[in-house]
Amino acid sequence: MVTESSPRRVIVDTDTAGDDTQALLMLATADRIDIEGVTICAGNVEFDYQVENAKHTLSLTDCDATVYEGARQPLLKEHTFADYVHGEGGLGGELFPETGIPSGDRHAVEYIVETAREHPGEITLVCIAPLTNVALALRQEPELNELLDEVWVMGGNVNCLGNVTPAAEYNFWVDPDAAKVVMNELDVTLFDWGLTVRDTGFDAETLASFETGPKTELRDFFVEIAQSVREFNRETLGADQTTQPDSALAAALVEPELIESTGHYHVDVDEREGMTRGYSMVDEDSVTDGRPRTTVVESFDNALFTQLFRDMLFEKSPEASL
Ligand code: RIB
Ligand code: CA
Repeated sequence: MVTESSPRRVIVDTDTAGDDTQALLMLATADRIDIEGVTICAGNVEFDYQVENAKHTLSLTDCDATVYEGARQPLLKEHTFADYVHGEGGLGGELFPETGIPSGDRHAVEYIVETAREHPGEITLVCIAPLTNVALALRQEPELNELLDEVWVMGGNVNCLGNVTPAAEYNFWVDPDAAKVVMNELDVTLFDWGLTVRDTGFDAETLASFETGPKTELRDFFVEIAQSVREFNRETLGADQTTQPDSALAAALVEPELIESTGHYHVDVDEREGMTRGYSMVDEDSVTDGRPRTTVVESFDNALFTQLFRDMLFEKSPEASL
């Protein structure tokens, strides 16, 4: 049971841009969570922008977690950025932080493995990026699943349209070889793109209430970074709204009541180049002989999420109204 007196200890693996920053803020401002460390993986924008974005985001809070640099490209595939969603630097407009804060003294993968070994059963790995670092950690430590407390992943698209191709979501598409390893070798709680689109977005009315609320540093930061994804969603979804894939996962770690329903399925990933690269095969009808080891979050309480997010922005405490 996670409480303020015994917070959940997490390592956050992120490709810090856009909503990754809000996930970091959610976890860094929550009393029920202790961020042990942050690891950076090749993803949304240029790697060094992601590193600075993570350090800058944490500097807006009291969290002094170290940022460790990890894989700068996928295991095998050529890397593809998502700067068309998040802006060149990943923070929407003109924000390109240069914090001067040093990175951790070892590779992110080494940090993940050593921390899991030193604190068996204590660490939750929060994966909100392509899964390259996590797959490399599994290769270094085959017992990683037993050493970690839990593994939560934002990725895939459960029998619905992806957001990079019709078949695939960005985190699984960018490094499908890594996603395949992770989904077959770790017991994962999965937040997919389908859940993101159904249950996590903030509509124009909610966004307006944020913009007209009291001026705070976190509110201003959110409004700035949300511009780019709102523009992208206006063009692609035809609606002025955000999508909150990473911060929704983070909020559910803070308040598990946000998760309304789950299913347990075998999940595999297509690592081959081509039309179905990165496709997440989710065996909802149990027609394969795969082990149903993945907990897929199928419904999420958007109203309660909005409350936690609002309290994070204006009170710097997502649990303020709980
Ligand atoms: O598909 C959405 C995911 O890909 C999010 O984690 C976003 O930050 C990108 O990494
Ligand atoms: Ca991400």
